[in-house]
Amino acid sequence: MTENRQWVLASRPEGEPGREDFRLEEIDRPEPGPGQVLVRTLYLSVDPGMRPRMRDRESYAPSWQVDQPLWARAVGEVVESDHPDWAAGDLVVGRWRWAEYDAVEGESLRPVPLESEPGTALGVLGGTGLTAYFGLYDVGEPTPGETVVVSGAAGAVGSVVVQLARLAGCRVVGIAGTDEKCDWLTDLGAAATINYRDTDDYWDAVEEAAPEGVDVYFDNVGGEITDAVLDNVNDHSRVAVCGQVALYNAEETPEGPRRMYQRTRTRVEGFIVYDYEDRFDVAIDRLRDWYVAGDVESRRTVAEGIEHAPDAFLGLFEGANIGKQLVQVADRGD
Ligand SMILES: NC(=O)c1ccc[n+]([C@@H]2O[C@H](COP(=O)([O-])OP(=O)(O)OC[C@H]3O[C@@H](n4cnc5c(N)ncnc54)[C@H](OP(=O)(O)O)[C@@H]3O)[C@@H](O)[C@H]2O)c1
Repeated sequence: MTENRQWVLASRPEGEPGREDFRLEEIDRPEPGPGQVLVRTLYLSVDPGMRPRMRDRESYAPSWQVDQPLWARAVGEVVESDHPDWAAGDLVVGRWRWAEYDAVEGESLRPVPLESEPGTALGVLGGTGLTAYFGLYDVGEPTPGETVVVSGAAGAVGSVVVQLARLAGCRVVGIAGTDEKCDWLTDLGAAATINYRDTDDYWDAVEEAAPEGVDVYFDNVGGEITDAVLDNVNDHSRVAVCGQVALYNAEETPEGPRRMYQRTRTRVEGFIVYDYEDRFDVAIDRLRDWYVAGDVESRRTVAEGIEHAPDAFLGLFEGANIGKQLVQVADRGD
């Protein structure tokens, strides 16, 4: 058997997770069964939504289990196939273990949308881009001239939302944690930015950045930043609740709505990208057209080597990434 390495959950963290919650194991390379494909992992996606999976709660099912392998969206190269759709050398995207090799149901795999840049299948041309697309356009329903505020704006999803809102003819305000990130958001077309780590009064900062009020709020972070934005919303505004990264490590989350919206008739709507699965192909085609034409750019922060996967994940909670955080496990054809 050829050597293979995989990460398992060593323990369930309380509060901030740490490296001790992960364990790297050496295992055999799996044999693909009937209908399965042996994939060699090229890229793994890490994202903040994995933190709730470290908890053992029904509402976060399927959770990761202690001493069991972790899983992620991933891009790989087919090594061996027992499925008619796939042959050795194909580049595929799917979900499998944080491992160098895995045996995956052929039925669950898709081709990468852009062969020359396979990593985009986990970013702008994958779940990240789709989350931005449906969260902004379907939930946020922006119209030209409106003000769109995006929190977590220099992250994977947020940076695509900023650009899609600009393409929709909106005035965009991006909120992020460093000046470097804010400068990049300006390059992407944000009319104003807020470095929240350098701001004493979030409320004043939002009012100054969005003097005509907020029509659409795309929320990736929750917490106090969101409180400040919600205090500045316009009548009939829309809030797309995408994620709450500022609260994922909290052991006690404040109960109930933190602000009241009835005065402004604001619609606050959570969403999960998979709600829109039947329209994924159309959205990926549009995103790919924009990406290839240079209308939407994609930045990636890449950790090299499977041994650094937990560090890449933990860095998300410190803002270590700009754009999409990936782990590169191997080069194609190594
Ligand atoms: N609804 C869905 O279907 C769906 C799908 C995918 C992702 N999501 C959610 O979308 C959000 C963004 O995900 P992503 O993959 O694009 O991650 P990401 O934004 O690339 O990475 C997380 C970023 O969040 C910021 N952050 C971390 N801790 C924070 C805190 N306490 N307060 C404010 N900002 C903080 C950091 O940037 P700064 O330097 O700016 O702090 C960090 O770079 C997450 O909440 C995720 O769970 C939802």
